[in-house]
Amino acid sequence: MPKITIQPLNRTIDAQEGATIMEAAWAHGLYWPTTCGGEGICTSCACAVEEGAENLDERGRSERKTLSAELGERVLRDGRLRLACQARVRGDVVVSKPGVRPARPSALSLD
Ligand code: FES
Repeated sequence: MPKITIQPLNRTIDAQEGATIMEAAWAHGLYWPTTCGGEGICTSCACAVEEGAENLDERGRSERKTLSAELGERVLRDGRLRLACQARVRGDVVVSKPGVRPARPSALSLD
């Protein structure tokens, strides 16, 4: 089962293979910034892939379109920036996304 490590929260979660980063975070009770609710149109969920970029599905047409429209063509040349609501996990990754936090106090992990 792939693992996603989220910084600076410093939390590692399991993900179903093929789930998006955001789906995996939600499944573990985490809040992930979004304004479109995961529809792939806002870029609020964008995260930097620090390790394991090869373990994510390649950007699809809609992800490329949203990133280039909102942030400019140059972000497409840097493969590190991904939409967490679109990037599907196939293996271990480390991502950086400030603002990710437990959605509820009960989701706080002490491990
Ligand atoms: S949540 Fe809006 S683009 Fe991902």
